[in-house]
Amino acid sequence: MRTLTGLQPSGTLHVGNYFGAMRPAVQLQEQGEAYYFIADYHAMTTTHDPAELRENVQGVAVDFLACGLDPAKSVFWKQSEVPEVNELAWILSTVCPMGLLERCVSYKDKIAKGISASHALFAYPVLMAADILLYDSNRVPVGEDQKQHLEVTRDLVTKINEQFGEETLVLPEAIIPDAVAKVPGLDGQKMSKSYNNTLPIFGDEKPLRKTVMRIVTDSTAVEDPKPTEGSIILELYKLFASESDYEVMMKDHKAGGIGYGDFKKRLWEAYWAFFALMRERRAELLADPGYVEQVLAAGAAQAREEADRVLRRVRRAVGLR
Ligand code: ADP
Ligand code: TRP
Repeated sequence: MRTLTGLQPSGTLHVGNYFGAMRPAVQLQEQGEAYYFIADYHAMTTTHDPAELRENVQGVAVDFLACGLDPAKSVFWKQSEVPEVNELAWILSTVCPMGLLERCVSYKDKIAKGISASHALFAYPVLMAADILLYDSNRVPVGEDQKQHLEVTRDLVTKINEQFGEETLVLPEAIIPDAVAKVPGLDGQKMSKSYNNTLPIFGDEKPLRKTVMRIVTDSTAVEDPKPTEGSIILELYKLFASESDYEVMMKDHKAGGIGYGDFKKRLWEAYWAFFALMRERRAELLADPGYVEQVLAAGAAQAREEADRVLRRVRRAVGLR
């Protein structure tokens, strides 16, 4: 059983990314083979600044390793280190109907947000399919927004296998976490870079503390009981605190007599403690960039071996060999 997923290097990672993508990926390392890569080719559909791209790739690599990605258990590499993925993308393109891509919501959303409509942006799902299929992946954990791209991938497998033989490509399955696993942002909407409402995983203590203390609350008086339904403080606290601390927090909300300032302080402390070990690990990694480079190089070598094996099979099937 092989699990594969790609991470877009697009800026500071936040608590939503941690619980929605990184932690599940770290947990899946314990079950079968884990293949994780940094999607730098994909990032180029939205970033044309070389320095920014380099910095973001390095940042995601360090943060993911700090959050528990274990190179002894996972293959971890940078997408562009295995450029063969572009050849598979081309082969898939030859059977990919235009209509399949025209229906993709994420493309339309990006255009609506003002991202320029390049060929790469349009063909994004084909490259994503190639990422998955080049490694004979079985399971692909992704957020809800990527579900349609997994459907495109499965459609392409069917087309290739009908045309060139049933054994050509392996049919992957999406693993989508529950809708309830959505982490709320500081304003109550889904936490997302695009909404500017994120709590980063890493950063300097003072500004982060301010960010937590600025969470918007209602005007319930200190002495009155506080609502527990739809409380951002409680929802976030639940992610970081022990079960017993969470129960105390609930009880104190219902009892009244404690103000939101105190609750935010508790949230801050739980959040800061939750990431303490990862923060330490991150500092070590930042002090040793050679190590990160070496992990990515070893991962790329291993990924390339697998990619060669699959691509040889596909080339033979389609008649390139
Ligand atoms: P953003 O919305 O900030 O742009 P991305 O779309 O880059 O985040 O998300 C990367 C990964 O993190 C995806 O797998 C996504 O499902 C997960 N993720 C992002 N925000 C949240 C959230 N608020 N709750 C749960 N998972 C999230
Ligand atoms: N498109 C994914 C995202 O924005 C990132 C990605 C690229 C990916 N290639 C992939 C995810 C292959 C899973 C499998 O989150």
